[in-house]
Amino acid sequence: MTEDFKQNLLCIGAGYVGGPTMAMIAYKCPHYRVTLVDINARRIDEWNSDRLPIYEPGLDEIVKAVRGKNLFFSTDIENNIREADIIFVSVNTPTKTFGVGAGMAADLQYWEKTARQILACSDSSKIVVEKSTLPVRTALAMERILNSNNRHLHFDVLSNPEFLAEGTAINDLLKPDRVLVGSRLTDSGIAARQQVVDIYANWVPMERIVTSDVWSSELSKLVSNVFLSQRISTINAISAICEKSEADVANVARAAGMDPRIGSRYLNASIGFGGSCFKKDILNLVYISKSYGLDEVADYLHSIVRINAYQKERFVENMLQAMFNTLAGKRIGIFGFAFKANTGDTRESPAIYIARRLLEEQADLVISDPKALGNARNDLADADGRVAYVEDPYQAASGCHAIAVLTEWDQYKTLDYEKIFAGMVKPAFIFDGRNIIDHQHCFDIGFNVYPIGKPPLTHLE
Ligand code: UDX
Ligand code: ADP
Repeated sequence: MTEDFKQNLLCIGAGYVGGPTMAMIAYKCPHYRVTLVDINARRIDEWNSDRLPIYEPGLDEIVKAVRGKNLFFSTDIENNIREADIIFVSVNTPTKTFGVGAGMAADLQYWEKTARQILACSDSSKIVVEKSTLPVRTALAMERILNSNNRHLHFDVLSNPEFLAEGTAINDLLKPDRVLVGSRLTDSGIAARQQVVDIYANWVPMERIVTSDVWSSELSKLVSNVFLSQRISTINAISAICEKSEADVANVARAAGMDPRIGSRYLNASIGFGGSCFKKDILNLVYISKSYGLDEVADYLHSIVRINAYQKERFVENMLQAMFNTLAGKRIGIFGFAFKANTGDTRESPAIYIARRLLEEQADLVISDPKALGNARNDLADADGRVAYVEDPYQAASGCHAIAVLTEWDQYKTLDYEKIFAGMVKPAFIFDGRNIIDHQHCFDIGFNVYPIGKPPLTHLE
């Protein structure tokens, strides 16, 4: 351990979770030395530069305040493991694409490699903390690998899942609803858990720091994502009923959400959820349920993902139907490509599926987004020639037959739609996949307006 610091904290994996989380720990705990390492040298260079690798409101200020003081970014994984007291692991756990459980189970190869690397590089006992979302009971496999040594090294494996949402990560970290730390209920496990609790206690009120056994902690993270995504799939299923029955999904959500047992948040009908967590975590739980022989449970959980896929396809089919059953050769302006507002992240963004389907229908696309154009280019790299990328939404909409609003960026609420309408091919269409624009106003201007879960406003007979 370095002299001036209480402990050396290391995080392996400097991504969307590891980066902001460790930056906040460094910011709130000046007496800890915090280091982030990653195999991706470019990412580490960016963390050390003025242009951070991820866009997250408020992150720049925090990183700049502590970088070089008690926050460090490095590619030297081995030496940093050796010097660390507590190692947080935040490497990717994507869905498996091969072999048993392909398309469903979590791919644990990066995690296992990291565990073996920790073992190989350690010359003292350490605490290893699961920060990535992992299948329940992963800690057991990690313990077995780490404690398979004959060098008298002991590793306590803890679970400390991260509940931050992108776009609000800094606020979520500053004022978390809860911090969960799970451990084995042995003397050593409980003592290790206390060391992690002590870190968060620097700024999180004790009543918000929850401790548990390690399996409950691992499972709680998956369950939180089940509840959240289930709400979205429920309201999206209801939006389909609303479109048929001329009810308004916003009114329905408001009335239902006023019951405190239901709650008003997280009931916005949309083109479906995206992001790196929901689909992956639910499929992971579907797989685990099946492997325990709980087929009905698996089927119930799987329906959350099935409705999400249905909602994206339904949006495309509504566009096709409204635009006289052909999109071939038509130009469509896509407003927003990020999976949600206030992030440049496009992982599992519904916009990817929708853009690909529109291309299949032989539409030409002009994609606009304030932060996600770089990622959008990568996501649609194979569609070159048929897709243009234009940051300015006015320019993007010019000459289009239709606009599809796919991300709820604030700026799309206040655009001059009269000006946009003037530059479009008529009849002009707006498909509002996020219900954020003023539908009546756009209709009055002359647009044919198709919201989600509300009757369309159309000038067509
Ligand atoms: C989510 C969880 O919120 C977070 O706690 C967990 O740690 C990681 O997964 P994130 O994926 O960053 O966070 O974003 P979130 O705000 O939950 O949105 C997920 C998706 O659901 C987005 O595509 C969003 O647009 C969509 N969504 C959200 C809706 O369609 N309707 C809503 O009412 C809310
Ligand atoms: P998340 O959203 O879970 O943070 P990211 O993909 O943003 O996921 O971050 C995971 C990070 O982990 C990536 O930057 C990746 O390069 C890094 N990573 C993956 N495997 C290893 C490894 N064995 N050692 C160090 N870093 C790794």
